[in-house]
Amino acid sequence: MRKIGKVGIIGAGHVGSHVAAMLASQGVCGQIALLDIDQKKALAHSQDIADGMSYWPRPVRVWAGDYQDLADADLVVMAACGAAIEQNRLDELAATVAVMDQIVPQLKACGFGGVVVSISNPCDVIAQYLQKALGLTVIGTGTALDSARLSRRLAGLLGAAPQSVSAYMLGEHGDSQVPAFHAASVAGQPLAQWMTEHPGRCAPAELARVARETAEAGWEIVLGKGSTEFGVASAAAALIRAILLDEKRVLPCSVPLDGQYGQRDVYASTLCLIGAGGAEEIWQLPLSDQEAQALAESCRIIREYGVKAAALSTLANEKIHG
Ligand code: 2OP
Repeated sequence: MRKIGKVGIIGAGHVGSHVAAMLASQGVCGQIALLDIDQKKALAHSQDIADGMSYWPRPVRVWAGDYQDLADADLVVMAACGAAIEQNRLDELAATVAVMDQIVPQLKACGFGGVVVSISNPCDVIAQYLQKALGLTVIGTGTALDSARLSRRLAGLLGAAPQSVSAYMLGEHGDSQVPAFHAASVAGQPLAQWMTEHPGRCAPAELARVARETAEAGWEIVLGKGSTEFGVASAAAALIRAILLDEKRVLPCSVPLDGQYGQRDVYASTLCLIGAGGAEEIWQLPLSDQEAQALAESCRIIREYGVKAAALSTLANEKIHG
C-alpha cells in the first residue's frame, strides 16, 4: 500500500494556506505542517483548515509546525515571500532572496531531504536559487498557473471546455512568458487546423489578445484584491499530487533545462512528466521560429536575474557564488 505523504508548507499567507486547504480537501497527503514567521497566523490557518476534516476524503493532520517537523517530510512547499507583491514579479527578487536566506539554513539544519515545490516569486529565479542553496530536487510551479489561465481563455474563445484544450505557456512565470500556440490543440486537433476549419471564430489577433490577458491576469487580480491565491494553489496542488501519488502526469512547471530548446543551466517552464522522482522527464514542444526566439529571450531574462540573486545572497554557498 502506498505511504500517505507528509507535506511541510513554509509561508502560511494567502498562497500557502490555500495550498494546505486544497491538499487536505483532496486527500493528497496525510499530514500537513504549516510554518510561518507569524506563528499565530499559522495556528489559526491550521485550525480553520482542520475544521473541514469531516468533509474530506480522509483524515489529514494539519498543524502549525516548526522546522523539526520537516525532517521526515516527503515534500516541502515554498510559499514564503517578502512583503510586497509587485506588478513585475522580478521586482520582488531582493525581498524574496532575503526571506530565503533566513529559511535555507533552517531547512538544511533540520535534515529535510525530499522534494521542494517552490511557488515564491520570481518563481523561476527562486526555484533555481533554492536548488543551488539546498542541493535538493526543486521544481517551480512556473507556468502551471499561466497555462491554466491560457487554456481557460482560449477555451472561451473556441467554445470548448478548458479540459479539451491543450495550450501551454513556456519560459518565465512572468512578463516574458511565451504562449506555445504552434503546439496547441483542441481535443487532438492542432489549433491552426481548428482555426482554418472554423473561419471567423478565432482570428490570430484574438490569440494575441488572449496571450496578453493571460500574462496580465495575475496583476489584474492583485489590483482587485491584493493577492492571488486560488488559481496558483490549484496548480501547485496538481503538481504536488502528481509527485506524492507518482501519477506520471505531464504538467508545465519550472525545471532546470538540459538542452531542451537549446537551453541549459536555467530554470524555465516546459512540459514535464511528473512522478515520485519529481520531473522524471523534461519534454520539448515544437515551437514556431518566433516562439523559439521569445523563449530564448525569456531564458535570458531568468538567467540575468539569477546573477542578481547570487549578488544579493548572504549565504556562504559555493554553488551560488561559485
Ligand atoms: C500569479 O500569477 C502573482 O504570480 C502570481 O498569480
